Amino acid sequence: MTNKTFKDLEHDGWMERAESYDLITPVTDQAIEPLLATFGELRGQTLLEVASGPGHLAAQAADAGANVTGIDFAASMVARAQARFPVVTYREGDAEHLDFPDNHFDAVVCAFGLLHLEHPDRAIAEAFRVLKPGGRYTYSVWCAPEQGGDFFGFLMGAIQRHGDLHIDLPPAPPFYRFADPAEAESALTNVGFTKPQVLTAPVFWRAQQPSEAVDVIYKGTVRTKLMLEAQTEAARKAIHAEIISGVEKFRVDGRFEIAMPAVLVTATKPT
Ligand SMILES: C[S@@+](CC[C@H](N)C(=O)[O-])C[C@H]1O[C@@H](n2cnc3c(N)ncnc32)[C@H](O)[C@@H]1O
Repeated sequence: MTNKTFKDLEHDGWMERAESYDLITPVTDQAIEPLLATFGELRGQTLLEVASGPGHLAAQAADAGANVTGIDFAASMVARAQARFPVVTYREGDAEHLDFPDNHFDAVVCAFGLLHLEHPDRAIAEAFRVLKPGGRYTYSVWCAPEQGGDFFGFLMGAIQRHGDLHIDLPPAPPFYRFADPAEAESALTNVGFTKPQVLTAPVFWRAQQPSEAVDVIYKGTVRTKLMLEAQTEAARKAIHAEIISGVEKFRVDGRFEIAMPAVLVTATKPT
């Protein structure tokens, strides 16, 4: 067992993924429009993107006229985003301890970030703190398999059938916690947000070849990759084979398409 924390492992993993995360952005980019739509007219708003990764959402918000800052704890992600989108200010920073004054931003957004945090409730409280009264917070996370998340459903099914889901990794918060509407509402109202709304956005993983699913897991994820690496070699081979044959069942017009819908949750800080 490693003596690293979940946060350390996430940090190591994301530091290595600034380039290969390009395999995932065609998926996460599908949620940018519905996420930004929750903020209404962006022109003139100050917006903070927390866990901004390669910076696509922040750049799109800047194109729409917002004054945007992105923070991410992986220096490699920050450097890549800054080189690509100079119009945004990207900084290294920790979602759980935001380096900004109280009541500072009109909008805070966190796209597919909460599920990577060791203390996600702290990050929600920090978003509340840095928002101006009347400001809006929106986050997105992946739907659980029972909410239509087919990709995660058959991936976890393959690990369960051929390997071990309970391997020795540092304790981490449950992956789907913030996709559960009741959990989402209580996490947001507990820190003071009002009027939480839970929405869903259709998102799909698409590929030309089924084997791309294995690639995307090793090069674009952290927790799932560690889970696969912790299996025996025989189990891992069987899991890969089942993932590939599983994807073959999702053929649409000569390519492959699997649902990965997102839950979007949005709420406001009282005036
Ligand atoms: C799945 S990526 C999401 C990137 C981007 N928001 C998107 O929608 O594609 C998760 C990002 O969260 C960042 N991250 C994880 N833990 C963090 C923390 N404690 N503080 C800031 N960023 C963090 C990682 O470095 C990574 O860039």
